[in-house]
Amino acid sequence: MTTTIPVRLGERSYDVLVGPGVRKSLAGVIRRLGARRAAVVSARPPEWVPDTGVETLLLAARDGEPDKRLSTVEDLCGEFARFGLTRSDVVVSCGGGTTTDVVGLAAALYHRGVAVVHLPTSLLAQVDASVGGKTAVNLPAGKNLAGAYWQPSAVLCDTDYLSTLPRREVLNGLGEIARCHFIGAPDLRGRSLPEQIAASVTLKASVVERDERDTGLRHRLNYGHTLGHALEIATDFALRHGEAVAIGTVFAGRLAGALGRIDEAGVAEHLEVVRHYGLPTALPAGVEPAVLLRQMHRDKKAITGLAFVLSGPRGAELVSDVPEAVVTRVLGEMPRKPLAELIGGQPGGVPATDAAPA
Ligand code: GLY
Repeated sequence: MTTTIPVRLGERSYDVLVGPGVRKSLAGVIRRLGARRAAVVSARPPEWVPDTGVETLLLAARDGEPDKRLSTVEDLCGEFARFGLTRSDVVVSCGGGTTTDVVGLAAALYHRGVAVVHLPTSLLAQVDASVGGKTAVNLPAGKNLAGAYWQPSAVLCDTDYLSTLPRREVLNGLGEIARCHFIGAPDLRGRSLPEQIAASVTLKASVVERDERDTGLRHRLNYGHTLGHALEIATDFALRHGEAVAIGTVFAGRLAGALGRIDEAGVAEHLEVVRHYGLPTALPAGVEPAVLLRQMHRDKKAITGLAFVLSGPRGAELVSDVPEAVVTRVLGEMPRKPLAELIGGQPGGVPATDAAPA
């Protein structure tokens, strides 16, 4: 079954399709765009890329933070030019969130903007990264420091792509699904994975429609992310994004409780939801609170002091200038476990999934 979720942004509106086999809609999408050529940038084997219906240049890419850099954008734009891609043509990305980010930025810059269609192949990219128009690359000075808002023309979340994902890669996406529980999604526990993806995308679409440029409401999508990002950096990315966000979500519940914004049952709900998804709930042993605090001060939401998105009487909202002493105390009260235990002793990294989707 296919679910179609509209993202309503005036003339930049588009649909996100979720379901098995939706990648096969690509040729129809490209036909409706009127493109005569497509540059497909894929971090997956060629057989994962559906027919485009037009003359196509297939470029191989690699998922992962190291390739999410400006030189990749320059290389891609050079290939587009050599192929003769015009601004009436289309770029297609196929891969995880780092690939949709870097290809999205190349599309935003090439000829000052060419249509892009995303085919996210990881759960994380399907529920978050590929939807909403944020594109970026990393600079030596930090993650996602150079980017643009560039909405795709369509996003095709083919759930067949997920059938061979390793468990940790699934957990990486489940971390973002779990945090939806606290930012306006219905209780998704017990629903099928395609339903959870569709609900997460529906929630994200409703937020992006009201705050495309991240000036207020969109901060909500960063629930659990202030500590989450700090944990990713402090563990040198041994904790995957979704795992770190899961721990950050448990922490956000405790912090909201400590600030009197939610009651004990609300705090416990954070633990229960994160645990339900099989995600880590404790801090990694050996990571110093001072290191986490330093990173959290650098969070993009922290204009002054420490800032967190926290549940409260008005729902989840950005809370600025949270006293450092309270943050330190709540961090100190979090249970700790060896990192290897938190990640189930499984290796991290990019999914080695070469099997063709069904
Ligand atoms: N991933 C957060 C956002 O798109 O705003």
